[in-house]
Amino acid sequence: MTCRTQLPEWQNLAQHAQRLKKQRIADLFEDSSRFDAFSRPMPFGLYDFSKTLLDQPALEALLALARKAGVEGERARMLAGEPFNATEQRAVQHMALRAAADRHPHALGQPVQPQIDAELGKMEQFSDQVRQGRWRGYSGKQITDVVAIGIGGSNLGPQMVCEALASYAEGPALHFVSNVDGVQISRTLAALDPQTTLFVVSSKTFTTRETMANAATARRWLVAHGGEAAVAQHFVAVTSAVDKARAMGISPDNIFAMWDWVGGRFSLWSAIGLPIALYLGMPIFRQILAGARVADEHFTDAPLEQNVPVLMALLGVWHINFLGMPTHAILPYDQALKYLPAYLQQAEMESNGKSVTRTGNPVAYDTGAIVWGQLGIDGQHAFYQLLHQGTHEVALDFIGSAVPVAAPEGHHEQLLANMFAQTQALMNGCDVDAVRKDLLARGYNLDAVEQLVPHKVHRGNRGSCTFLLDKITPASLGSLVALYEHKIFVQGVLWDVCSFDQWGVELGKQLIAGLEQQLTGTEPPQGQDSSTTGLINYYRKLSHS
Ligand code: F6P
Repeated sequence: MTCRTQLPEWQNLAQHAQRLKKQRIADLFEDSSRFDAFSRPMPFGLYDFSKTLLDQPALEALLALARKAGVEGERARMLAGEPFNATEQRAVQHMALRAAADRHPHALGQPVQPQIDAELGKMEQFSDQVRQGRWRGYSGKQITDVVAIGIGGSNLGPQMVCEALASYAEGPALHFVSNVDGVQISRTLAALDPQTTLFVVSSKTFTTRETMANAATARRWLVAHGGEAAVAQHFVAVTSAVDKARAMGISPDNIFAMWDWVGGRFSLWSAIGLPIALYLGMPIFRQILAGARVADEHFTDAPLEQNVPVLMALLGVWHINFLGMPTHAILPYDQALKYLPAYLQQAEMESNGKSVTRTGNPVAYDTGAIVWGQLGIDGQHAFYQLLHQGTHEVALDFIGSAVPVAAPEGHHEQLLANMFAQTQALMNGCDVDAVRKDLLARGYNLDAVEQLVPHKVHRGNRGSCTFLLDKITPASLGSLVALYEHKIFVQGVLWDVCSFDQWGVELGKQLIAGLEQQLTGTEPPQGQDSSTTGLINYYRKLSHS
């Protein structure tokens, strides 16, 4: 396949970028139809990308790149269950987990719907039993607390969703443990009663050291109180490695399946969502799936120019590869979406942070946005200074909802006013004349005015996209997450990288065991660089003293 940068479509975009860099976004609004032309209805809301440095010819050039890269054909290949994750020879079928009954999805030629239905049924039965108090602990008491142990894709999705939809919670209290730093599990267990605590150990591989260490500590704590026999009532696992879960003493009946055709960071729709079902109930979990299905149908059916995830992906490529903006901040203006930035950080960066094409050649362009962010309101008092006046340009997604989940009088208007004000200030800025006029009106003398002017100028012309959801509901949340998933897929195709493997996290993992031994050993550290040797020696001095 021709290198992306050699494509006429890519070169055409570079020319559009040169042209538009001389343009001010605010001036593009002289066209009174700009909002209509550069916003789209999206499932459960509105996507506004009119405040970006983009015009119609550049948008058409981006769409031409999407066509040339074969986005539609690749989408069909993924949906057909072909080995789209080529380096692991796996299908990529997270969409099957929320597919309509008549879709009959396959993975590498095998039908997968029966397995999905069976697992959803098992989740329903189990979560109902726990929530209705029919599943009892070793002493006959009802379950009051669930501890979800897992990390990365086996943690971030359920944690993000449960935080977002906490207002729907009626089930047991939920706690997440991901860090191997013993502080987290110790504090969690200290507040719990072993007779009424259920552990969900989620790990696709059941080899992730952090998760195994936390599960072992939790198991010791339980056994110390309830004996070995208590494990069957208090531990369930979600994994594709059934034998390993059984070796931990978890009954086969209490093991929920995962499959290799669902990547960890795309797995919240599978039994990895069991903590969601326990906390919010299976009907809510099914509503989340249904919302994602609406986004899937939009992604598969809408023409490219109306297709929100395709547009999101194209804008990302535009920002990174043509406008030189490698980082992308996710800025929710909705408390419910507190953990969305962390969730999307893994989803995007683990997927598209790649340096070779699908055929293994080095890429000649940047891939994978550096994703970061936090609740926008808190960010305003932390890092927005850099967004407004710093030297870096950052791509920005503002995300809010029109109808609040709960809001004392006046709060929601203030929240949305903040969001809109930021997008305006970033775009319009405040030029020398306006700053000077303002300072003079405030009574500053001429010398003071001239000293302050350069510090107070906001050059503006900093673009942003706004997602305005109707309201955060299980369905709209499911849909929003699915839209970002599809964006990731499209970007992978545009950059010609394999979005569904993550070899880059393996190397560090392989070194851990050896280092653990050297930390606890007494022989001088062997085979380490002098930096690591020095650090190990310093650690040993303190830990052995
Ligand atoms: O961070 C690397 C990774 O392999 C992720 O892809 C995955 O979501 C996470 O670790 C957890 O893996 P597992 O579910 O196998 O414990």
